[in-house]
Amino acid sequence: MKNLVSMKDLSVEQIRAILEQAQAFREGAKSTLKNHYTMANLFFEPSTRTKMSFEMAERKLDMDVLPFEAGFSSTLKGETLYDTVKVLEAIGIDALVIRHEENNYFESLVGKVKPAIINGGDGTGNHPTQSLLDIYTIWQEFGTLKDKVVSIVGDISHSRVARSNADALTRLGAKVRFVCPPEWQGEFEAVNDFDEVIASSDVIMMLRVQHERHDGATSFSKEGYHEAFGLTIEREKRMKESSIIMHPAPFNRDVEIASELIECDRSRIFKQMENGVFIRMAVIEMILKGRE
Ligand code: CP
Repeated sequence: MKNLVSMKDLSVEQIRAILEQAQAFREGAKSTLKNHYTMANLFFEPSTRTKMSFEMAERKLDMDVLPFEAGFSSTLKGETLYDTVKVLEAIGIDALVIRHEENNYFESLVGKVKPAIINGGDGTGNHPTQSLLDIYTIWQEFGTLKDKVVSIVGDISHSRVARSNADALTRLGAKVRFVCPPEWQGEFEAVNDFDEVIASSDVIMMLRVQHERHDGATSFSKEGYHEAFGLTIEREKRMKESSIIMHPAPFNRDVEIASELIECDRSRIFKQMENGVFIRMAVIEMILKGRE
């Protein structure tokens, strides 16, 4: 593996190898990279978790991390993403994490520039390291993905998390179901009644309502959405005893999930964030090893 832009880049064996290496890093393993590397994280859309956990992973791998602020970069003077990456290539950057609002932005880079490209999220397209940390969290919980029922609930059509997880979870043997209002169904087959899936799910994965990607044409009521598609306290009571709650975050409290459930016993939301560091260490190491 020389880049990671989509979960489709990864075979089931590679996904398993990443999970095992993430677990090894969690248990204190050290990097086995032969060379010293320099990375930069280029975020053209807002991020707290992905940006900070990549930076933590890079530091734990003893790398140099050069700061990049999109809002103070020459992209504001019209420099293209390709030209920006060529600048970073010229000054000696080995690998880049990029988040960009344009779907498939990486097509102008992969195979055309020297630094490794790791996708930190492209528009509504892909978010591979989020998918890997989600898979790792489920695996850690149940020891397997096989036959686990994962219900992904909410703003499906605008979600790169749903898109990345749909394919990968299915290939790992999980039974994935989508639940959303009909207008947010996109290309997915979905059920429109959350109550149909509550009691039979092993994982309830809530998604953020992504107001910034909506055109504002349809009216939206927070209370109405919470009632119909939110994980309410009443719905949580009907979940199976062993089932868990996930959310990629950031979350809209009391919209897609009741505020009281965010840190409840079955919530793995902060565990997902913790796992993100180890997954990102494993991904970076695998990519750079593939280039050594
Ligand atoms: N889950 C996720 O991608 O969060 P950020 O947007 O804060 O990176």
